[in-house]
Amino acid sequence: MAQQHNHTHHDRSAWSGKLAFILAGAASAVGLGNLWRFPTLAAKYGGGMFILTYFVLAFTFGISLLLLETALGRKTKLSVIGAFSSINKRWKFVGILAAAVPFIITPYYCIIGGWVTKYLVSYVVDGPTAVAADGFFTGFITDPVFTYVFMVIFMLICIGVCALGVKNGIEKANMIMMPLLLFMAIGISVFVLMQPGAAEGAAYYLIPDFSKFSPDLVINALGQMFYSLSLAMGIMVTYGSYLDSKENLTESVASIAGFDLLVSFLSGLMIVPAAFVVLGITDGGMMAAGPSLMFVTLPNVFGGMGGAAQVIGVLFFVLVLFAAATSAISLIEACTSIIQDGTHWSRSKSLLACAIFVIAAGCFINAGYNVLIWIEPLGEGTQLLDFFDFLSNSVMMPIVALLTCIFVGWIIKPKAIIDEVRESSKFKLAGAWTVMIKYIAPVLVIVILVANVLPMIFPA
Ligand code: PHE
Repeated sequence: MAQQHNHTHHDRSAWSGKLAFILAGAASAVGLGNLWRFPTLAAKYGGGMFILTYFVLAFTFGISLLLLETALGRKTKLSVIGAFSSINKRWKFVGILAAAVPFIITPYYCIIGGWVTKYLVSYVVDGPTAVAADGFFTGFITDPVFTYVFMVIFMLICIGVCALGVKNGIEKANMIMMPLLLFMAIGISVFVLMQPGAAEGAAYYLIPDFSKFSPDLVINALGQMFYSLSLAMGIMVTYGSYLDSKENLTESVASIAGFDLLVSFLSGLMIVPAAFVVLGITDGGMMAAGPSLMFVTLPNVFGGMGGAAQVIGVLFFVLVLFAAATSAISLIEACTSIIQDGTHWSRSKSLLACAIFVIAAGCFINAGYNVLIWIEPLGEGTQLLDFFDFLSNSVMMPIVALLTCIFVGWIIKPKAIIDEVRESSKFKLAGAWTVMIKYIAPVLVIVILVANVLPMIFPA
C-alpha cells in the first residue's frame, strides 16, 4: 500500500545508514527520564531488584513496541498520522492522537531544557556555591524574564540542528553528543565511586533487595520504560520511516534499548552513591525525585565535593544538556515531519511552523510559573507544566500504545508487520512477538493507565 504514496515522498528525509538510525533512536530515548527518574526509582525500589525488573521489561515489552513502531514507519514511509490512515482510514484517529503527544511534550520539555542551560551557565559564571544556595532553583524558575530567555535559547539550538536537515543536522549532532554523553557518564561515575564511602552507596544501588519486589515496583518500572524509550508518540514511527528497508530492524531496536538502559544504569551509578556520600542518605526512599533531585539535591552533592565541585557541576550539566537537547531535537523533528506530511509544505516551511508553535506554547506554559501561577490545574502547588506532563505521559501515551497494539494485533494482523521486519531480519521470535502485541502488551498498558489515572480520581 505504501507504494500508492510514493509520489509524496520524493523529498523525504533519510538516514545515511543503520548506525545513524540507532544513534538517533538512542538520542531520543536517552533524556531527562534516564537521568532524574531512573536513579530515584532504583533507589526507592531495592536497587538491583528494580534494575533487573526494568531490564526484563525493556527487553521484552519495550523492544516489542519499539519494533512495531519503527516497522510501521518503515513500511508506510510516512509519519504517524499517515502511517495509520494509509493502512486503514478508520484508524486515522490513533495517528492523530499519537501525533498530538509530541506537540504537547515539546514546549514543556524545552522549558526544562532552558533550566538545564541556565544551570550550566551558572556553574561556569557564578560557581558551585551560588548554584547550591537555598532558593536558587525556585528563584530562577519563577523569574518572569530569564526563564523565557533560556527556554528560547535552548529551543533555537534544537531548531537550528533540525534546520540543517536529518543527515547534516540531526545525524551529525548525535554523532558528537551521544559518544560524549556516554564518555562523561562513565567518567563521572568513576569519580563518584572513588570518593570515600561511595562503596556503601554503590552496594545499595547494585545488590538486589528481593524483599522490595512488589506490584508497585513493576508498575513503576513499566511506566519508566515506556517514557524512557520515547514510545507511543510517533517519534519512532517517523524515525523508522527514514530508514531503508535493507537495514536490520531487530538488531537496531535491541541496540537502542541497550543504549538507553546503559545510560540509565550509569545515571544511578553517578547519583545514588554520591547522595550517600555527601548527603548521608542511607535509604533510597529519602531521595528526592525529578526536578528537585536534579536542580536542588545534586548541586548540594557537588557543592560537598570541594575543589572538584565546579568541574563536576559543569560536566554533569553538559551531559544533561546533551541528553535533553537530543530528545528535544527528536520531538521537534517528529512535529515537523507530521506537519510536512499533513500539509505537503516544504521541510523548511514545516519547521518554521513548528518553531512558531513551540515557542508560543512554551511561553504560555512557562507563564504557569510566573504571571499565571494562580492556575493550579492538578491541585495545590501544581503548575501548567505538571498538567501537560500528566496529560501526555500518564494518559495519552498509554491510550495510544493500547490502540496501537489493538490495531496491529487485531485489525491489520501482526503478519503485516512481521513481513516488514523480515525484509531485513530473520526475526525468529515473531511468534513470541505476536503473543506480546496481541495479549500481553495491551494488559500491561491498561495496568499503567489505571495506575496513573486512579490516584488522580481518588487522591489518597
Ligand atoms: N525518552 C526521553 C527521556 O527518557 C523523554 C522523551 C520524551 C523524549 C518525549 C522524547 C520525547 O527523557
